Amino acid sequence: MNLKSIGNSFSLSLIFSISTVLFPLSSFSLDSKSDSTATASSHEASHEDLIRGERLFYGLVYQGDKSVNCASCHNTRFVDSLNWNPNAHDISLKYKDKTVKDLTTVLLRPRSEKMALSHKDFDLSESDILVLKAYMDEFAVKGLKPEKAIINRLIIFIFISLLVLVSLADITVIKRFKYKWVHLIILLGGGIYITDTLVKEGLAIGRSEGYSPDQPIKFSHKIHAGQNGTDCLYCHSSATTSKSAGIPSTGVCMNCHLIVRNGSRSGAFEIAKVIEAYEKGEPIDWIRIHNLPDHAYFNHSQHVGVAGLSCQECHGPVEEMDRVTQITDLSMGWCINCHRGKEVSFHDNKFYEVYRDKMESMKKGEIDSVTVEMVGGIECMKCHY
Ligand code: HEC
Ligand code: HEC
Ligand code: HEC
Ligand code: HEC
Ligand code: HEC
Ligand code: HEC
Repeated sequence: MNLKSIGNSFSLSLIFSISTVLFPLSSFSLDSKSDSTATASSHEASHEDLIRGERLFYGLVYQGDKSVNCASCHNTRFVDSLNWNPNAHDISLKYKDKTVKDLTTVLLRPRSEKMALSHKDFDLSESDILVLKAYMDEFAVKGLKPEKAIINRLIIFIFISLLVLVSLADITVIKRFKYKWVHLIILLGGGIYITDTLVKEGLAIGRSEGYSPDQPIKFSHKIHAGQNGTDCLYCHSSATTSKSAGIPSTGVCMNCHLIVRNGSRSGAFEIAKVIEAYEKGEPIDWIRIHNLPDHAYFNHSQHVGVAGLSCQECHGPVEEMDRVTQITDLSMGWCINCHRGKEVSFHDNKFYEVYRDKMESMKKGEIDSVTVEMVGGIECMKCHY
């Protein structure tokens, strides 16, 4: 992840916090709702169990002279970078509807080479696993904690807003504070900071350059398209013939993963999700990254099939990405800029026979190239219905 996608979630938190200030009642009812679901699901475990489970998970309980910090591998909050170990929410969800015995079995008798290596120092008693399970069951409901950076920025934003409000109140109503120049500095500095933040976050809501969400399965283009050298069209087969490039179904994954059941980075955990989805006949809920607004029309076959552009010209070096990142802002200016400068190759291309006059001019040497613009590429109707 990077700054901009943090920015996106920051925008959401910002909206939330503004609405919390403006509509205290509505947010109050939201809070109490999530509280009641959390307690309902963990009613069997006592509060002490949960605390002990949490301390064990964070490696704060020593067995003899050592402790295992589960959270050092299984993240309990969102992180910027890709962590190949399953996060705490993932493993908790997997065992939520299973028994303590199931968890004991997998923790004491590892199923894969990777797990045997990662879990090799375990010295957990039955009662340890009991409270770990209680903590994990609660975690399955609560989910990952947000990134620290967002919380910090939000706190700063709220703090400065309050400072400005107090300063304004003192100038207009209270009139207690002698040093007026302090108000000036607060109002000027605070005003600039607040406007700047709101404008930036406002722009970030519609645009998502740099967007790189965590996907439900840690599918890596770097491994598949880069290291294994699988062709983009093997999975995005409709890019040359239709409007959308398409996301492969689990059936396509199973062409290889019927046999490959272990990854060198994630062990069996991630590939097991593919196999489970396939066996249940359920699609994987990939999170869409590139997305134009409805009023704009874009067609892959036009660009990949007809114009022969490479995927990388628009999507960047996807074969080097563990997580796909949107590298452009997908703005109208981006489309138009390329159409202005990009030449279309007229030679041997049936598609362009309608532009016979331009072909003639080219043959006569009146023009030496034809850009997308010259064949209508910046007419509004081509991209807007
Ligand atoms: C083994 C199958 C496979 C191969 C090969 C593959 N992809 Fe993908 N691609 C996927 C899957 C699955 C997703 C959805 C998950 C994700 O975003 O990582 C995806 C997502 C994408 C996205 C983001 C889609 C969105 O939501 O906006 C782009 C862009 C993309 N691929 C481009 C490429 C390019 C370029 C190549 C070749 C260099 C390539 N892919 C090769 C399977 C594949
Ligand atoms: C052309 C064969 C092929 C296809 C198709 C394929 N994979 Fe893979 N995949 C592999 C191989 C080989 C590995 C092992 C790479 C390694 O461990 O270095 C792998 C590894 C993985 C891993 C684990 C990575 C690691 O190192 O831990 C995941 C997760 C994965 N694939 C998901 C998918 C998904 C999801 C699809 C379908 C969209 C898919 N794969 C399609 C060949 C394929
Ligand atoms: C050194 C890193 C590391 C530490 C520390 C660690 N784990 Fe894991 N854990 C992994 C990896 C990697 C996997 C996935 C391995 C695989 O599926 O092949 C995993 C998988 C799991 C699973 C899923 C098992 C399944 O059925 O797929 C559970 C549950 C789990 N860990 C619990 C724990 C608990 C509880 C602790 C602390 C007592 C812990 N782990 C500490 C790396 C770690
Ligand atoms: C001229 C620029 C351009 C080129 C070249 C291009 N794409 Fe795209 N791609 C886009 C845009 C723009 C979107 C968003 C489309 C939308 O939201 O309607 C997109 C969306 C996608 C998506 C997600 C949505 C979908 O269409 O299924 C995938 C996957 C994808 N591209 C893969 C590819 C692959 C693979 C190639 C090469 C074979 C490729 N793209 C070539 C611009 C391009
Ligand atoms: C990297 C360069 C590039 C980018 C970026 C690009 N295009 Fe294009 N586009 C082309 C080329 C080259 C053609 C010419 C192919 C043709 O004539 O069909 C084309 C043709 C088109 C056409 C057909 C025009 C016609 O005269 O029939 C449409 C519509 C279009 N693009 C829409 C878009 C939209 C929408 C975007 C932005 C989301 C976009 N393009 C971004 C290179 C690009
Ligand atoms: C090559 C494709 C293309 C052409 C030609 C094009 N547009 Fe756009 N336009 C887009 C895309 C893509 C967006 C969405 C941009 C975004 O989300 O920021 C857009 C957005 C817009 C918007 C919404 C405001 C905004 O910036 O988001 C308006 C209004 C608009 N276009 C008007 C026009 C007019 C008028 C013309 C003709 C002079 C035109 N467009 C030609 C691709 C095009």
